[in-house]
Amino acid sequence: MSSTSDEDLDRLIDELTLPAKIRLLTGATTWRTAADAAIALHELVLSDGPAGVRGQSWDERHTSVLLPSATALAATFDEQLVEQLGALLALEARRKGVDVVLAPTLNLHRSPLGGRHFECFSEDPELTGLIGAALIRGIQSHGVAATAKHYVANDGETDRLTVDVRVTERTLREVCLAPFEAAVAAGVRLVMAGYNSVNGTTMTASRLLTDPLRSEWGFDGVVVSDWGAVRTTEDTARAGLDLLMPGPDGAWGENLLRAVRTGKVAESAIDAKVHRLLRLADRCGALGRRPPLTRAGPRTRDVRRLLRRAAAAGTVLLANHGVLPLGAGDLKTVAVIGTHAARTRTQGGGSAGVFPQGEISLLDGIRTRLRGHARVVHVPGPHVPGPPPALDPRLSTDPRSGVPGCLLRMLDAHGHELYAEHRSGGRQLEPPLVPGARTVEISALLRPRTSGTWTLSVAGFGRMSLRLDGRPLVAGEFAKNTDDPAIVHVTPPPQCATTHLNAGKDVLLVARRELAPGTGRATIVGAAEPGPEPTAAVAAAVRAAREADAAIVVVGTTEHDEREGQDRTGIRLDPRQDALVSAVASANPRTVAVVNSGGPVEMPWRDQVGALLLAWLPGQEGGAGLADVLFGRTEPGGRLPTTWPARLEDAPVMCTQPVAGRFHYSEDLHIGHRGWLRTRRTPAYWFGHGLGYTTWAYEHITAPGQVPAGAPFTVRVVVRNTGARAGRETIQVYLARPDAAIDYPQRWFAGYAAVRAEPGETVTAEVHVPTRALRHWDERAHTWRTAPGPCRVLAGRSAGDLPLEAEVQINAAP
Ligand code: BGC
Repeated sequence: MSSTSDEDLDRLIDELTLPAKIRLLTGATTWRTAADAAIALHELVLSDGPAGVRGQSWDERHTSVLLPSATALAATFDEQLVEQLGALLALEARRKGVDVVLAPTLNLHRSPLGGRHFECFSEDPELTGLIGAALIRGIQSHGVAATAKHYVANDGETDRLTVDVRVTERTLREVCLAPFEAAVAAGVRLVMAGYNSVNGTTMTASRLLTDPLRSEWGFDGVVVSDWGAVRTTEDTARAGLDLLMPGPDGAWGENLLRAVRTGKVAESAIDAKVHRLLRLADRCGALGRRPPLTRAGPRTRDVRRLLRRAAAAGTVLLANHGVLPLGAGDLKTVAVIGTHAARTRTQGGGSAGVFPQGEISLLDGIRTRLRGHARVVHVPGPHVPGPPPALDPRLSTDPRSGVPGCLLRMLDAHGHELYAEHRSGGRQLEPPLVPGARTVEISALLRPRTSGTWTLSVAGFGRMSLRLDGRPLVAGEFAKNTDDPAIVHVTPPPQCATTHLNAGKDVLLVARRELAPGTGRATIVGAAEPGPEPTAAVAAAVRAAREADAAIVVVGTTEHDEREGQDRTGIRLDPRQDALVSAVASANPRTVAVVNSGGPVEMPWRDQVGALLLAWLPGQEGGAGLADVLFGRTEPGGRLPTTWPARLEDAPVMCTQPVAGRFHYSEDLHIGHRGWLRTRRTPAYWFGHGLGYTTWAYEHITAPGQVPAGAPFTVRVVVRNTGARAGRETIQVYLARPDAAIDYPQRWFAGYAAVRAEPGETVTAEVHVPTRALRHWDERAHTWRTAPGPCRVLAGRSAGDLPLEAEVQINAAP
């Protein structure tokens, strides 16, 4: 796309005064860069990512196409499909006038407790790099720029703004930086510097922004700060950081101008930043004449079909005792059990969140699939504790217009209305900016469908109140206890109250929050219906399961468990959910358990169920994709991108708590399955595990006998489809060097290839083993090396199931 030469960009820079140049280096707003008419530079619009393109506002009226979460994308082990999904994000970006998508997230699954686990691809640096590069290629296929984030070692949420990660140079290179290196090789146009520090330096001022990023890898794009990550002026300006976000305030601006004028920061450094910014603008079509926006996206039908295929391709069949696929034709009644069946979680929380165009719950998907074939009985089972969901138009009406939804008003200091509008939901993260407004008010007529004890809530910071028919339920000053933007602006904690409501009797709910400086803009009103009595709820589920030909029980995490800005405190499901699965499984041997979560959960009942499917956070078409899998229209295509523990305590890295502000990556290279192998513990399911609907025999492996150090090679693996159905198999290759003098992981993932075969057919998979799979970082010489000597090459279905083996001799480079 780039058409302007470096010389021409420099000539444009010469036309700018120093203040004009510095102005460009801080965002003009939260989501936009500054424009400069003098050089025909237009603003660039940036938007989160990664599961959908939100656009410039958090507004439920501006909906987005919602992809499966990153863990589900990695589980596809299908770069072509991920690239197609990236291209879909690009079209969404175009439709919304977005130039830069803040995705993908290339941090790693170190601990099962990671709050943003759902948003990262894998525990494995190689797989993360491959899938991330595919998404980047897709996003950038339509003149949109992708952003590799968060550079680097930003793998946990606890104290993420300040934590200092202590990590060896070798681990940094081989583990943490590796996916970013792959992103740069794929041509990524931006890299986002994280909030955290690495080895004592905050990432926005880190040398890692130039070395290896620019020097060795040749990155010529823009380094943007994470939102609010620049806290000082000179060191960050001298480092490789180019763009401070969000704007218009921040530590650069006037301070940076002064620093340049007093010689503390060289003007040439400013010019280099502006040059990179102009190059990015040029690549995005924002320099010179701006091409008209093409707002027409792809046909909805095609989008939905692709997302449905993606959901099925990421679904992991963890276990199957002959129960799946269910034959739609031989079922009369199917029991669909669990609150997650009807309220499927399709995405994780935090900056990645979007307002989806529509969502197909698992129950919807199953109902649609079985219409005209079998009766579907839904029993929610026990209530899953969590904060009340935001008010939605099924429960409330705007008290002024009577239209489903609520009324949003902005009030002045005397409580007089300055502005009012109808909104459809109670989650208002960015109420309109109205001059003179001091208070935001959300009101709704709530129509209870059930009598009993309701939980009502208001979330936000500062002075707030919640009234029911004039009676105060919540009132007080709720001080901010964090500066984390994901919590302040997206998921502030709810203040809850319980009250008795009668079915069908409308009540007026009025929430108010004072818009004091520093309290953010988010105001969220929530309402939770009374849950059923737990024992009776399980009994009803058991009855339904017993009377059905098959039972599908859906359990999962809540939006409170998995989100940005906080790590999880455990990976157990609510005990009532565990009890529900066990009870249903003992009532019906044809029980399929479906897990709806972005990261690992303990499944103590996993050996009791007939089949076990992992649906992840499957995006807007999740229910349709899962129904395709359940009833055999599609094979479950997913393989685990991360090892799942049976119990949290077994995980090689569990802790997410820094000590005295520091976090030592003491596992070194032994992340994920490498750590499990080293600690000799057995997980519930290994990295790479996942079944299809046919069976495979691994028959033969060939690898070259000799390979010169530094050269890639190809491994050929012959497999036979021994089942009765056509299928797809993901053949994985791992390397091991047990006799080497260097400390390697016991074995490590080096690549994969997927093949398809008809029943009885034999096919050969060619797995490419790249040069990087064999190199190691020499800390003394600060360079990559490949050690000569023997290397075992193992092939199979997962990190824990590798039936074939060959040996390659690595010869010293000539
Ligand atoms: C997150 C980023 C996100 C940014 C803008 C930050 O808090 O860490 O991933 O892109 O906010 O929303």
